Amino acid sequence: MAARATFIIYALFLASLQLLLTRHLSSAAGGSWNVLLPNVGISAMHMQLLRNDRVVMFDRTNFGPSNISLPNGNCRDNPNDAISRTDCTAHSIEYDVAMNTVRPLTVQSNTWCSSGSVRPDGVLVQTGGDRDGELKARTFSPCNNDQCDWVEIDNGLWKRRWYSSNHLLPDGKQQIVIGGQGQFNYEFYPKTTNPNVVALPFLAETNDRGQENNLYPYVFLNTDGNLFIFANNRAILLDYVKNTVVKTFPAIPGGDPRSYPSTGSAVLLPLKNLEADQIEAEVLVCGGAPKGSYNLAFRRKTFVKALDTCARIKINDADPQWTVETMPHARVMGDMTLLPNGDVLIINGGASGSAAWELGREPVLAPDVYHPENPVNTRFETMNPSTIPRMYHSAAVLLRDGRVLVGGSNPHAFYVFTGALFPTELRLEAFSPAYLEPQFATLRPRIQSPKSQSRIKYGMNLKVKFSVVREVTGPVKVTMVFPSFTTHSFSMNQRLLVLDNVKFTRKGRSTTYEVQVRTPKSAIIAQPGYYMIFVVNQNIPSEGVWVRLQ
Ligand SMILES: *[C@@H]1O[C@H](CO)[C@@H](O)[C@H](O)[C@H]1NC(C)=O
Repeated sequence: MAARATFIIYALFLASLQLLLTRHLSSAAGGSWNVLLPNVGISAMHMQLLRNDRVVMFDRTNFGPSNISLPNGNCRDNPNDAISRTDCTAHSIEYDVAMNTVRPLTVQSNTWCSSGSVRPDGVLVQTGGDRDGELKARTFSPCNNDQCDWVEIDNGLWKRRWYSSNHLLPDGKQQIVIGGQGQFNYEFYPKTTNPNVVALPFLAETNDRGQENNLYPYVFLNTDGNLFIFANNRAILLDYVKNTVVKTFPAIPGGDPRSYPSTGSAVLLPLKNLEADQIEAEVLVCGGAPKGSYNLAFRRKTFVKALDTCARIKINDADPQWTVETMPHARVMGDMTLLPNGDVLIINGGASGSAAWELGREPVLAPDVYHPENPVNTRFETMNPSTIPRMYHSAAVLLRDGRVLVGGSNPHAFYVFTGALFPTELRLEAFSPAYLEPQFATLRPRIQSPKSQSRIKYGMNLKVKFSVVREVTGPVKVTMVFPSFTTHSFSMNQRLLVLDNVKFTRKGRSTTYEVQVRTPKSAIIAQPGYYMIFVVNQNIPSEGVWVRLQ
């Protein structure tokens, strides 16, 4: 009896020692991981956060049964499926962040490798896919009663769109749908008839025959109203109204491809000084795979080391040039997520091989944070690793509470749960950046107003009231983030604005403060719609509040 008790005490002692050691080690690097749900039923290939803190996810519909049933015992006829002509499983789900639950959604046609945006009214509009889904558009209106589901629109598109990129346009009425496999052109959704489809030779010029390397182009709305479009290793500025290329950017030094299947990722860095006549806009492209990687992996099972460089460019300069920096990790298929404090999280992916089925190797489990405002050579910081590889068909999106939701990974033509190098991944995880650590609790602002779902206008003074436990000693930042449609390592519509401060006041000697900021002056600076607004104090962001900019 006594020996047993001693043993138990000894075992407990060892366990707590181990806990202490891991705690210590993890705080040295920063950030932490949690598995939120062990099985969400599908592999989260595409993700979109909605204004009610629910995340719509979907993969594809023609590759056999998933691990979650369709609602109400429904089944769908699935004549194009190689495995199950009648499919009673769901290939789309809605994840409720607050409840940490999922519910199945119904998609009829194939959404594989598609694209989308949220409309200014908060409705998700998705376009394209494969086979019976290639010309479809689909909408999903957020609801809080679990009753909403996908609505599919036949012939929503003029051309088949598979691996295209979308961007919501400043008028808020349309999104542009650019490229896709075999499509060297773009169109608008909802459809226009004049023009209907516009040729974009740039996409043919950046198409490495047999390897492509120009799919899922990186598209950003520039502060002059034109679209920055990057494919392969270079970019143009497109006036989509006049359908003319107004600027051609040089290739990134080295010439290696950065877009699918040599998948890197890219962001428009935080936009600031928004009252200036000409607002600076900088693009950061990170990772990718050297020329030929896809063919070497596909034909010879040779997995080339991924690119370990980022390239940064000021796109409004008269003579823009890329500046190249080295990352702590080589990375192909990484995701780049803008954090509320303006840092860039580089997460997921592998260190060798290529995107596409079975072609990625050496998962990179540790995310890297890029601090855009630091001097060169002090910008990268490696975070604590996950234990779950996130390879091809994985995704990451920012949540309103500052965590980053990570899901998916399925490098196979079907769902493969056992006996594979990287089994189909149904686990949903959250990465909590270092700013969420308890030691920063007394610095963390708490927003009191505006209230959730408030409407704000362009070019106005906005009063943001917040409280902080510890006295605020320096200037705070107010940022706004547009929720992105994320798939294949690219977050479409991702945009972060640092609003100009006008006035800062403290309410007496209380812990309540008010900062007045200027909202963006036009829809060219910030497309209309729902944004998460954050207060950032000494780099520690508050939870966000949803506001509608219009
Ligand atoms: C599939 O779902 C079942 C039932 O919920 C579960 O037991 C199983 O672990 C799931 N499979 C995977 C790979 O998560």
